[in-house]
Amino acid sequence: MLVYLNGDWIPGEDACVSVFDRGFVFGDSVYEVIPVYGYRLFREAAHLARLKASMTAVGMDVNALTVTWSAVFARLAETLPSGEGTVYLQVTRGAAPRQHAFPANAPLTVFAYARPRVPETGVGAGYEISAILCDDIRWARCDIKTTSLIANVLLAQEAAARGAEEALLVRNDRVNEGAVSNVFAVRAGRLFTAPRNHLILGGVTRDVVLELAAGLGIPVEDRAPSRAELLEAEEVFITSSGREVAAVTRIDGRPVGDGRLGPVFRRLHAAFQTFKEEVRIGTRT
Ligand code: PDD
Repeated sequence: MLVYLNGDWIPGEDACVSVFDRGFVFGDSVYEVIPVYGYRLFREAAHLARLKASMTAVGMDVNALTVTWSAVFARLAETLPSGEGTVYLQVTRGAAPRQHAFPANAPLTVFAYARPRVPETGVGAGYEISAILCDDIRWARCDIKTTSLIANVLLAQEAAARGAEEALLVRNDRVNEGAVSNVFAVRAGRLFTAPRNHLILGGVTRDVVLELAAGLGIPVEDRAPSRAELLEAEEVFITSSGREVAAVTRIDGRPVGDGRLGPVFRRLHAAFQTFKEEVRIGTRT
């Protein structure tokens, strides 16, 4: 695996960062995960805009970045078999003696690599999952895509330990998002999802699905479902760069609706596949 690290191209096993790097010591770092289809990056501009927003939110100087992302992404995409996978990139506040407040002169650490997509097998082939409900134990700036992910890690582990693929997070009786995804519920044919604010990460996949819903004439309400509304929903699904659009057919072991893939999910999933094909052949970004 080829890795980009601070301007150099290095085999993954030789790529090293300092033990004093603030990304390592404090989780003082932001990141992005960008899907790649047919060597092309999915919504590259939106991911880079979110990276800049995350950097700005944590007080990192966006202008201190000297990397030309398009060139880095093109080279990383070339390393993927058939150009299918994801690009991961991370920017940390650099290496410096340990003190919580920002260091004076630490250059940012910039790291990126590409990971091939592993084809899912079996029933549902990755687009049908089960989930659990958990209290949202995260902080109040979930809009920042930071690698300080210990709460998300614990929540995802709780899901895995209970045989589920995602934890849906409840705060003040609202199901805002998942540990690693955004959440949608369908009630009476209408789509409900949390508004873009500090309680969720504004997902790039979420935005694409909202555009597709608008194109299909599916009504959308920018409102996070309550716990009861979610459990009584006809359909629930999640979106993320890794899972794309995946139906949640069981929550806490109980079926959602009739426990099968619902009509709204099917339409949006199909539209998403078409969208991806268009990205692959370069007619859409
Ligand atoms: N995470 N909300 C959270 C908490 C997430 O971690 C993610 C994705 C999303 C969906 O965002 P997007 O559609 O832009 O991927 C929402 C990534 C994929 C990860 O950490 O691996």
